[in-house]
Amino acid sequence: MRLAAVESRNVTCQEPLPPIFWERAHASNVWDADGNRFVDLGAGFGVAGVGHAHPRVVEAVARQLARLPHAMGDVHPAVAKVELLEALAARFPGGVPARSVLGSSGSDAVEIALKTALLATGRPGLVAFEGAYHGVHQGAVSLTSSRHYLEFAGVPRQRVFRLPYPYSYRFPFPVERRGDESKIVLRYLEHLIEDEHSGLDDLAGIIVEPVEGEGGYIPPPGDFLPGLREIADKAEAPLIIDEVQTGFGRTGKFWGCELTGTTPDIMCV
Ligand SMILES: Cc1ncc(COP(=O)(O)O)c(C=O)c1O
Repeated sequence: MRLAAVESRNVTCQEPLPPIFWERAHASNVWDADGNRFVDLGAGFGVAGVGHAHPRVVEAVARQLARLPHAMGDVHPAVAKVELLEALAARFPGGVPARSVLGSSGSDAVEIALKTALLATGRPGLVAFEGAYHGVHQGAVSLTSSRHYLEFAGVPRQRVFRLPYPYSYRFPFPVERRGDESKIVLRYLEHLIEDEHSGLDDLAGIIVEPVEGEGGYIPPPGDFLPGLREIADKAEAPLIIDEVQTGFGRTGKFWGCELTGTTPDIMCV
């Protein structure tokens, strides 16, 4: 295959069948290289939340490209950057004043969130969830639960405390009532933090997806994020909400965490 000849083998899934190559897309439709038309129910991993090639997005990108394709980062910043950061700040959940660091991918955002949490607390301990996907950069890949990505990254997993995501259909422990999974997870997390013999005496942050994406599109019970918020407050550690896949209206609210009125300390978008 032409792609396999020029791309590292760890990027595109080539097995058991070669992938369908996309050629173009419009609104909710995608056409492959053979001209077959598909309905993109995944909205391009959430990137095409307003549909592929929405005319207003195309026009805005074209306008900016024609006007100023690249500024000089921290030396001569673009006016458009100020406008973007102001728009993001105005949208931060809970109306809290917010400042941003721009990156070029979701993995960048998670990497920056990690550094921020470690800097703010001076502690290294991280809590993440089973089934989580937080990207593949050197730090972020340790938060992603699948071994698959870690093996391809070629780095050892950093120390991460991992708890089950409260998934009603595939939860490892018995529960009396559906929806009680979150209570078990929250109680166990509290125990880990409170018990001086648990090994988690250095919490730097808790990172969570408001709806677990790659893990299977799992909306958690409604008390899960608010419960994490309380635990993080008590532990004086940041709650990092990864909205890379749930943000920008994907869940019906602008941010997924707004479904339960939860305000993060750090948000990845
Ligand atoms: C929740 C979540 N976080 C982080 C990432 C990483 O984003 P990127 O692929 O842009 O690095 C993804 C990608 O799908 C994601 O779904």
